Amino acid sequence: MTTTAARTTTEGSQPANGQTIRRRYDGLADWYDAEMRRLPLTATATSTVAGLLGPGHGRCLDLACGTGILLPGLTALGWRVTGVDVSGDQLRLARRRAAGCGASLAQADASRLPFPDGTFDAVVSLFAHTDLDDLGRTAAEAARLLRPGGRLLDVGTHPCFVQPFAERPAHGPILLHQGYRARGWHGHGPGFNAGIRPRVGANHLPLADLVNAFLGAGLTLRRLEEPGEDDYPFLMALVLER
Ligand SMILES: C[S@@+](CC[C@H](N)C(=O)[O-])C[C@H]1O[C@@H](n2cnc3c(N)ncnc32)[C@H](O)[C@@H]1O
Repeated sequence: MTTTAARTTTEGSQPANGQTIRRRYDGLADWYDAEMRRLPLTATATSTVAGLLGPGHGRCLDLACGTGILLPGLTALGWRVTGVDVSGDQLRLARRRAAGCGASLAQADASRLPFPDGTFDAVVSLFAHTDLDDLGRTAAEAARLLRPGGRLLDVGTHPCFVQPFAERPAHGPILLHQGYRARGWHGHGPGFNAGIRPRVGANHLPLADLVNAFLGAGLTLRRLEEPGEDDYPFLMALVLER
């Protein structure tokens, strides 16, 4: 399988950590939000986050919150929620959800966030580990923002079975092509025939690299789950503790 760099859908960029941050979701927010509401996977993913996090009264950061799909559920659990995302277009839709549930929002790069050390009791991140340019740096920033004993939940696509190399036909078995160890941004492949990925690509990390990005930030892995009923899991959830 050949893979290439993702098509850039960036509308603007900003310097941070000496690098250019791409806002790949700018211009896609309305489409993305409608797609998220349509997919049954969204309900599985959001209930996984809620189930693993549970009720709480502390501060919770929704890292790469997108259009704010998690905000109402997290605030309903009692958490005081702040959503951050780099995309102004995604935050435009998140603003409506935040207003409806009392969450606050900030536009910022996940690897350099405008909060003091230990601000949050929990950090959650949904469908983001494939979209960040530097997962290790973001994990380190999440660890900095957590109080000691605070938890980080990372829920997203499974790195072994949902990537450009993983073709998932409507019927029949999943087909794994070459490319599992090809780290980095990919814009197309047999597994990227529909949905968001042909539009923004994905930053693929093999399973060990993904988990080690969090462990390298000094976090301790408490639980790993593969939610859902699919034969080969679509989702992977990590619960880590500072
Ligand atoms: C697949 S979307 C997930 C959004 C939301 N969590 C959800 O589940 O619908 C990935 C999000 O990551 C955001 N993102 C990508 N790189 C980022 C960065 N460096 N800092 C903050 N957000 C980022 C994108 O703007 C996008 O909203």
